[in-house]
Amino acid sequence: MPAKATKSTSTNDQSIAYYDDENHNYEDFWVGREYEHNSELIALSKLLHNKHYQVAMDYGGGYGRISPAILDHADKLILVDPSNKQLDIAKKHLKQYNNVEFVRIDKQDTVPADDNSIDLLVMVRVSHHLPDPAATFAEINRVLKPGGEAIIEVANEAHFINRMRYLKHLKGVPKEPVAIGQVANGIKENTPFVNHNPKTIQETLDQLGLQPVTKLSVSNLRHQYLKEHLSLGRMLAMERFFQGKLSVLDFGPSIFFMVKKTSK
Ligand SMILES: C[S@@+](CC[C@H](N)C(=O)[O-])C[C@H]1O[C@@H](n2cnc3c(N)ncnc32)[C@H](O)[C@@H]1O
Repeated sequence: MPAKATKSTSTNDQSIAYYDDENHNYEDFWVGREYEHNSELIALSKLLHNKHYQVAMDYGGGYGRISPAILDHADKLILVDPSNKQLDIAKKHLKQYNNVEFVRIDKQDTVPADDNSIDLLVMVRVSHHLPDPAATFAEINRVLKPGGEAIIEVANEAHFINRMRYLKHLKGVPKEPVAIGQVANGIKENTPFVNHNPKTIQETLDQLGLQPVTKLSVSNLRHQYLKEHLSLGRMLAMERFFQGKLSVLDFGPSIFFMVKKTSK
């Protein structure tokens, strides 16, 4: 069984060091992961379909991998990230856009924006580095305009295959974040890398008054056997079909929550 995550106060420092490391190239992580990348783009296009926002933020946006998908639905994008290296790469990656601002997150668990200033905030593949995400969610709530929306992607400890593993050991999925795969992922020792229980995430969002809009289950077919035996096109067609349907089961390894700010 994976270890429970210890709540760390040095989240940012450790994960910045990882993304700033000259020997680590986050873009390389995506080579061979076309299925996951496109599954996430499908999820974003479903959630943002027919919507348009004035000011959007790509929180922990890295080198801007998903920024173009957000820019399709926004007048202006603010990409924020704690890593100078990722921000530098993002500036090159998104150089054809003249409506993107790049801002460094220089304080842990904060969102660098004024109260009630953001119409849409998207946070994808960052929850992995948040062993205690409540403070970040409170910040997201603070910066959203009333009626503004957030898409929060969560690495799902309760995905179907894991649930079977827990069942085999006659255990339930822990409510708390679970530390995972440092060694397998080449993650530096002490870099926080956790999975979350979507039910706990939902409770935390509820407590802040962030109202559920939609939920999607993403990368549902992420399995080596399927990747070897099915074409990418077929996998993505199935993915598109299942994202909504499997969300009630929290089936996939990645859950996209879309929430709306209800408070003033
Ligand atoms: C796995 S990458 C994801 C980047 C981008 N969102 C994407 O989906 O391609 C994680 C990003 O989160 C940033 N990050 C790490 N710890 C963070 C934290 N505590 N708060 C905000 N961003 C963080 C990293 O610098 C990195 O760019």
